[in-house]
Amino acid sequence: MTSRPCWEICRIRAVPVPDKSYHTLDDFEVNGQLILVRADLNVPLDNDRQITDDTRIKRLVPTLEELSRRGGRTILISHFGRPEGRRIRNLSLGIVSPSLSKALNGADIAFANDCIGNIAKSVVNTLKPGEFALLENLRFHKGEEANDSNFAIELAALGTIYVNDAFSAAHRSHASVVGVPGLLPHAAGRLMQAELEALSKVLIHPEQPVMAIIGGAKISTKLKLLGNLVDHVDILAIGGGMANTLLYAKGVEVGTSICEPEMANEAREILTKATASSCEILLPVDVVTLTDGKLDEEPQIVSIDSVASGTRILDIGPASTDRIGSRISGCKTLLWNGPMGMFESPPFDMSTNFLARKTAEMTQTGSLISVAGGGDTLAALSHAGVETGFSYVSTAGGAFLAWLEGHCLPGVTALKP
Ligand code: 3PG
Repeated sequence: MTSRPCWEICRIRAVPVPDKSYHTLDDFEVNGQLILVRADLNVPLDNDRQITDDTRIKRLVPTLEELSRRGGRTILISHFGRPEGRRIRNLSLGIVSPSLSKALNGADIAFANDCIGNIAKSVVNTLKPGEFALLENLRFHKGEEANDSNFAIELAALGTIYVNDAFSAAHRSHASVVGVPGLLPHAAGRLMQAELEALSKVLIHPEQPVMAIIGGAKISTKLKLLGNLVDHVDILAIGGGMANTLLYAKGVEVGTSICEPEMANEAREILTKATASSCEILLPVDVVTLTDGKLDEEPQIVSIDSVASGTRILDIGPASTDRIGSRISGCKTLLWNGPMGMFESPPFDMSTNFLARKTAEMTQTGSLISVAGGGDTLAALSHAGVETGFSYVSTAGGAFLAWLEGHCLPGVTALKP
């Protein structure tokens, strides 16, 4: 019998990722081994080249500490930015070494100026059990993004076991993500495992009823995601600019708000698909607007059928927020992606703050499993002060969205034993 392609398995099972079909660190003796850890150290920097959010570094600590404690010799590999095969000084991974060392209680991190060849080998060969090395940006080589087999062979030659702890890069078919695991015994790191377990709890084996709250500016970037979610969740609450496009598609006046009129047909298809799948869609019943769109004006709360042609919607209104909030109360599982309004500019953060805090409260009392991720979501939750209040907040952007769209992520598929 020929084996089924990954996408086919996904369709048959109607789930986006293979369930627990990967080894973990529990399955390997790592003492003395050279462990090639694919991390995602692609952290944001400000204009002074300071790291503005080190969450991705901190989240690697459980894997790195465990490998060290168990006598592994750990080699970290990662991309940083998009140098497209060129060596760009500002995109050197050397900049994350101090933060990595700090997260590991001051551990020494040996740095190699290249991720392959003699430069990498000479650093890797000095590693003793429990020690760490960080290799230069993988994307300084064209072979990384091209998934070049020779580049993968050179990377694999550095280690004896491959561990992928970069769920946030799992949507990329790059050499370090899909090539190397084909050449070495491989496992998911603790962060990858946590991401996959959290995602599984939401869409594969959720406690029902399941609700999703989806926001963000453009429906065009989330069409596939919405189309997939209506098959999986009982209630889908939609806010942000994308709600305007759905309202527009239903003939509602949305004034000068963010809206993609050219997506009206696709928006209507989502609504039809939701009805067919018995997924209840919650669209705003009232909104917060500005008449001239200027932030120093007094915001108005108006019913959704009273939006004047010159006004701009910047948040969902209190009635809509209450309605979503009361539906959260009846759910056991909640998935969140994207803000409900322009949360960066108070008072247009009210609905996002209220719903995020309610979700966190219910999560903390044990009555809700809540998972969030993708794009602006982390920033919105941290603005609401609840980034640690959810059951799980993914560090992934594009990978989280790709997973919600129903794609098998190549980096997860490559971890199959
Ligand atoms: C991310 O920041 O989402 C990941 O690090 C992937 O980065 P990329 O979009 O440049 O592949």
